[in-house]
Amino acid sequence: MSEGEPTLQIRNASCLLTMDPSLGEGELGRLDDVTVVLSGARVLFIGPDAEAPAARQELDATGCLLMPGLVDCHTHAVWAGSRGKEFRRRLAGVPYSQILEEGGGILSTVEATRSAGEPTLTELAVDRLQRLQARGVTTVEIKSGYGLEPATERLLLQVAKEAGRRVGLKVFTTFLGAHAIPQAFRSNREAYVAQVLEEQLPIVAPYADFIDAYIDRGAFTVDEGERILRAGSGLGLGVRVHAEQVTHTGAAAMAARLGALSADHLEQIDAEGIDAMAKAGTIAVLLPGAQAYLKDAPPPVGALREAGVPLAVATDLNPGSSPVLDPWIAATLACISMGLTVEEALLGMTARGADALGDSVRGRVRVGGPADVLVVAPPRGEPVEPEGLVQYLGGTRVRHVIAEGRLVD
Ligand code: NIG
Ligand code: FE
Repeated sequence: MSEGEPTLQIRNASCLLTMDPSLGEGELGRLDDVTVVLSGARVLFIGPDAEAPAARQELDATGCLLMPGLVDCHTHAVWAGSRGKEFRRRLAGVPYSQILEEGGGILSTVEATRSAGEPTLTELAVDRLQRLQARGVTTVEIKSGYGLEPATERLLLQVAKEAGRRVGLKVFTTFLGAHAIPQAFRSNREAYVAQVLEEQLPIVAPYADFIDAYIDRGAFTVDEGERILRAGSGLGLGVRVHAEQVTHTGAAAMAARLGALSADHLEQIDAEGIDAMAKAGTIAVLLPGAQAYLKDAPPPVGALREAGVPLAVATDLNPGSSPVLDPWIAATLACISMGLTVEEALLGMTARGADALGDSVRGRVRVGGPADVLVVAPPRGEPVEPEGLVQYLGGTRVRHVIAEGRLVD
């Protein structure tokens, strides 16, 4: 293919949500009656069909809506084993943090993951990423955190990258050695923090884009988390934090102080944390799957919005607190359980999700930008409007997914 050669025409869509307000109407940057032409992995043209350059391949998008591929900016997609029994216990009222303190929860997944071996982990991750991709995800962040020792932590990030390569999905990786204190270190947690700092981080950092820590009751303290995050930041990793999920700890304010890209969960954040995030430009990653499964109160979305904290939305795909394989379900729950507007939910799964990964080009459709485009049909018998994307729980009709210019079958 020569440079700039049109390769795929997506014709006659009812509208395109560019997710860039400077390119079209309203917050979603909407353009009506458009054809989009791609050249390899880049967007070449956006405009009326009559002016569109002809391409080798054509896709009819009549009656459909176009938008950028979804950016799922918080997942734990590489693990082995089952948490089905724990699910039953939680349904019966046993708290998530109690199960973790007893050595179950995350720690039971660690056991199963450590003994799974690379081929199984890769096969399982490929299956999950294929499911996310079929529902429109073209960029995904994947955390480690089910190894909790140097070799397995590194393996999880290698598997994440390999699975992304096999599926054809852009993967960002996050080192989460500070996910739980392993059983063997329960009576000497400082020894585990030292292992993360001195043994895990140097080995894993070359495979990671970001560092994260789970700061909560039953997990890490603000002080432990801060030391680990600072060390990662010193090695050039972007900072993100599991903050204020089950209990209020002050982790969000600490994250803001460190210049974190995002603080995630935030059900228990207070005014001080919100203020600190707003001032630092730290993005709030909302995880409605975890909120629903753990039956938590919603985060204070009104106060976050009022303070001007940008809102992203993600699946938090993991076997315990959020076994959610459909990003549209996360978007819908963000609206009905957390109070996001339709526009906030759609931006949260696209442009804001990309921003939370420090990426200002993904999650939008712009000439020259990445050719990650979804063709979505409206609910049957209804007009093409953005609300049709999130109104039905799990019913969003993704017709085609184009990832880096390639039509996914
Ligand atoms: O984002 N809260 C901590 N970590 C994950 C849960 C992982 C798990 O339950 O296995 C979360 O909710
Ligand atoms: Fe998480």
